[in-house]
Amino acid sequence: MSNSNRVKIFDTTLRDGEQSPGAAMNLEEKLKIAEMLDDFGVDVIEAGFPISSNGDFEAVYEIAKLSKRSVICGLARAGVKDIDRAGEALKPAKRARIHTFISTSPVHMKHKLQMEPHQVLEAVIGSVTRARSLVEDVEWSAEDATRTEFEFLCRCVEAAIKSGATTINIPDTVGYAIPSEYGALIASLIAKVPGAEKVTFSTHCHNDLGLAVANSLAGVASGARQVECTINGIGERAGNAALEEIVMALTVRADILPYTTGIETASILRASKLVSNVTGFPIQYNKAIVGKNAFAHESGIHQDGMLKHTQTYEIMTPESVGVSKTSLVLGKLSGRHAFKDKLEAMGYALGGNALEDAFRRFKDLADKKKHVFDEDIVALVDDEIARGLDRIQFVSMRVVAGTFGPQSAELELSIDGQTRLGVARGDGPVDAIFNAIKSLFPHEATLAVFEVHAVTEGTDAQAGVTVRLSEDGKSVTGRSADTDTLVSAAKAYVHALNKLLVKRLKTAPEALTVARG
Ligand code: KIV
Ligand code: ZN
Repeated sequence: MSNSNRVKIFDTTLRDGEQSPGAAMNLEEKLKIAEMLDDFGVDVIEAGFPISSNGDFEAVYEIAKLSKRSVICGLARAGVKDIDRAGEALKPAKRARIHTFISTSPVHMKHKLQMEPHQVLEAVIGSVTRARSLVEDVEWSAEDATRTEFEFLCRCVEAAIKSGATTINIPDTVGYAIPSEYGALIASLIAKVPGAEKVTFSTHCHNDLGLAVANSLAGVASGARQVECTINGIGERAGNAALEEIVMALTVRADILPYTTGIETASILRASKLVSNVTGFPIQYNKAIVGKNAFAHESGIHQDGMLKHTQTYEIMTPESVGVSKTSLVLGKLSGRHAFKDKLEAMGYALGGNALEDAFRRFKDLADKKKHVFDEDIVALVDDEIARGLDRIQFVSMRVVAGTFGPQSAELELSIDGQTRLGVARGDGPVDAIFNAIKSLFPHEATLAVFEVHAVTEGTDAQAGVTVRLSEDGKSVTGRSADTDTLVSAAKAYVHALNKLLVKRLKTAPEALTVARG
C-alpha cells in the first residue's frame, strides 16, 4: 500500500452506471462522457464490459484511443474469453487496466456460480495470471466481499496479489455494510494479508442503505487509496457512491480527512449535467453538491444570515463546484463570439462543426425565447449530443390539440436515412404523437414514465420532457428540451426508442469459462 494521501478516483459511470435500469448510452454519448472524465482529472475510467456486447467492446476500444490522461479499464469475469476480449478492447490505450472479478461470498458461490470455494480460489489465480500476461495494471475484485467469510477473503486477496494484481477492490456489492464495519474490514485486510503493502486497496460501495459515500470514506480513512464511484451516484439498483460527494467531502473536510484527489472540482456541475442529460436521469432537487437547491436559501433567517456572511449557511462556495451565481443571459443579438465565450466559461470546448451546430440551434432558440440562460445552453448543447448517429431522427410535426377533437398528429421521422410520414389519432395530443411514432416504427415497449418540467422560469421556458419505455423487463430513458412541449415530447420518445435499439444489442454475456492459469 502506498503511504501517500493521494486518493485515486476510479469512475465507473460508463460501466456500473450504465447498468442502472433505464440508462443506456450509445457510442457517441459514451465518448463524450469519457472525454469529459479525462479532462475532469479522473484517474481511472472504467469504460465498459467488453465481452457483454459488441457495442461495449467498441466503446472501450474507442475510449482507449482517445484517452489522454486517464487509465482506461475494461471489466472481465474470471474467464479466459472475458479477459482476452478486455485485453483486445484495451489495445489502443496509452495506459490500460484489466479489472477481473469473481464472487467470494457463500451465497454467491453456492447459488450464482455453483462453485466450491477451492474452485473460486483457483479461478482467482487463473484469471489474474491471465490478465497479467496481457497488461501490467490488473485490478481484482471480490464480488460481494462484505458478505464473505473473512478468512476466505484473506486467502483470495493473497492469491490475487501473488498472481500479480496491482489493485485489490473490496466491493460492498449489495450495499449492506455500515461505515465502522467497512472501515474495519479494509484495515484488517491491509494488516493481515501478506503482500498488502505492495498493492492499492480500493472501495466500491453500493447505496442500498444510503451509506455508499460514508462507507467509501471509512475505507479511505482505513487505508484504501482508490474509490470507485459514479457521477450523480448512478448505478445498479440504488446506485454507487457519488463521485461529487466523495470529492467534496475530502475537499471540505480536509481537516479530518487529509486526502487529495486529482479532480477539477469546478467542473463538477457540468459533469453532473452531462450525465443527467445523456442518461435521461433527472437530478433530485435536494441532491448534495449538484441539486438545484444545494445552494438555494429560502427561509428569511437563512437569507438574512447569508447576506451577513456566506459561511453562515454555506460550507463550500457554489463556484467551487461550478455553480455560477451570475447566469449571464444571451439573446438573439448575441454573436458567435459571445456564444463561444459563454460555452468556454461553462467548460465546453466546442470547435468546428459542433460549434456551428450549437450556434445555429442557439439562434433558433433565441428567436423563440427572449433570454437564453445557462440552463438553456446546457440543455441545448448536451441534449442534442449523439443524435446525429441515431437510427431514428425526428424531422417535423403538426398536431391538432384542444377541445375540438379529434386530437391527431402528422409526424415525419427519418428511419435509417429514409423519411416517412405517419398520421394518427389519440386520446389527447401526446397519445396521438406517440401513436404516430408507433405507426412508423412498430414496437411493443410500454410507456412507463412521462414527465415534463420547465428548464428555466417563465412561460417561454423550454419544456424538458423525460420518457421512459419498458420492454422485456428492460427500461430506457429518453429526454429532450424544446420551447414547444409537444415537439419536446416527440423528440424525447424518439430518443428513448433509439436507446431501446442500443439496449436490444446488449446480449447476456456467455456462460463463464473459468481460466485455469
Ligand atoms: O458491485 C460490484 O461488486 C461490482 C463488481 C463487478 C466490481 O460492480
Ligand atoms: Zn458495482
